[in-house]
Amino acid sequence: MEKEQRGASKTHVLLVPFPLQGHINPMIQLSKRLASKRLKITLVSTSSARISMEGREADSPVEVNFISDGYQEGKAETMDEALERIETETSLSLAKLIEDLKTTEYPAKFLIYDSIMPWMMNVALAQGLEGAPFFTQSCAATAIYAHVHQGTLKLPLPLEETQVMLPGMPELRSNDLPSLVYDPCSYPALHKLLLGQLLNLHKASFLLWNTFDGLEDEVVSWMARQWPIKPVGPTIPSIYLDKRLEDDIDYGLNLFKSNSDACLKWLDSKGIGSVVYVSFGSLATVGAEQMEEVAWGLKNSNINFLWVVRESEVKKLPTSFLEEITERGLVVSWSPQLQVLAHKSVGCFVTHCGWNSVLEALSLGVPMVAMPYWVDQPTNAKFVKDVWQVGVRVQVNEKGLVEKEEIARCIKEVMEGERRLEMKRNSERLKEMAREAVDKGGSSDKNIEEFVRKLIHN
Ligand code: UDX
Repeated sequence: MEKEQRGASKTHVLLVPFPLQGHINPMIQLSKRLASKRLKITLVSTSSARISMEGREADSPVEVNFISDGYQEGKAETMDEALERIETETSLSLAKLIEDLKTTEYPAKFLIYDSIMPWMMNVALAQGLEGAPFFTQSCAATAIYAHVHQGTLKLPLPLEETQVMLPGMPELRSNDLPSLVYDPCSYPALHKLLLGQLLNLHKASFLLWNTFDGLEDEVVSWMARQWPIKPVGPTIPSIYLDKRLEDDIDYGLNLFKSNSDACLKWLDSKGIGSVVYVSFGSLATVGAEQMEEVAWGLKNSNINFLWVVRESEVKKLPTSFLEEITERGLVVSWSPQLQVLAHKSVGCFVTHCGWNSVLEALSLGVPMVAMPYWVDQPTNAKFVKDVWQVGVRVQVNEKGLVEKEEIARCIKEVMEGERRLEMKRNSERLKEMAREAVDKGGSSDKNIEEFVRKLIHN
């Protein structure tokens, strides 16, 4: 990979992630892939990502630059105000960066932006650049937003149980739809942001997607009939998929600090496939009552567990829990998730079904217990259980809680139940498909090659 990099062209591509961990991670990996394909790559991070550069390796193939998004530490603002600020500030600061680069040896030629920042396309065009959004959620979830956008899925949906048939998708019930479709009033600013992804697509040269061939083909075909979609995923560091390719370089872009050594050492002490890994990602806030159910569910399952409880969530743990868990459990505030999922001791992943977590589990062959919260997660959970059949999904009671018995039941079903071998086989098949897609000459690799060729020769 480093060798390919030496022959880099002068084609300079800027990539701008949205400042959340679940959006930064896949954009870093896409940056690395593109840098390995003869392009000069700059990852442009925005200031509110509060990035520490400590971990960044000096000779990494991707440069990192910063633009302001107007974030001020400690200043209270609503989500609407925050999004408005990000749009206005990043439009100005990105335009200035592109202007400044015009007088250098490497003026920017192309902009890849997170699809939830569609205004970036206008900045690119105004500066004489072409652009492409990078979609960090599943094609299925975004296709559902496209149906809302196009009026083929009318909101609000009736309150009673709804069944929705959409092209290329299994029959969806209300609890399989992205939460913001079913419940558009709760987070209007977020709703606007997610539907906003469908704006400006006609101006884009490509639509890069963090998915891969074979995973959600029918819905990708439906989208591809309207827009120039290119699946380029899964954006997992290839060291986890195919050790012949690049290393997992640390760009110092982690918004959370993990105690990796403690996690891995603890996992080393456990038997093969004996641990359930539990994480609800970087954003979901679990209610105190629900935390209690998860805690006792894990304890009662009598299975080893590694549970990520972010610092902001620790106070919700039941008081005696940490003293009671003994060597069978480890609670950490952040984990090196890819290394954890790749570890031989991990046999099951209890996940909120954020798209990155799902892709990471699929790519590493780990069966899941799906416990979705909001946005795209219910749709991802539907695919995990019913389409790919690589896991089970928890049942929610009439109070909206997942009870401890249900959590223990689901974990046991994946780790010890009759269908465990079938789920593991399906997981292994998808892992192989993920590896093939990103391998040299695989479908995602070819799409990236085509994208690069067009960029260099345009
Ligand atoms: C958000 C949304 O919730 C998700 O639904 C959407 O698809 C993307 O943006 P998030 O909730 O953080 O993301 O979940 P996810 O998409 O799974 O991303 C979390 C990332 O953080 C993953 O790459 C995961 O590997 C990483 N992570 C998580 C860690 O490295 N350590 C941890 O302890 C937990």
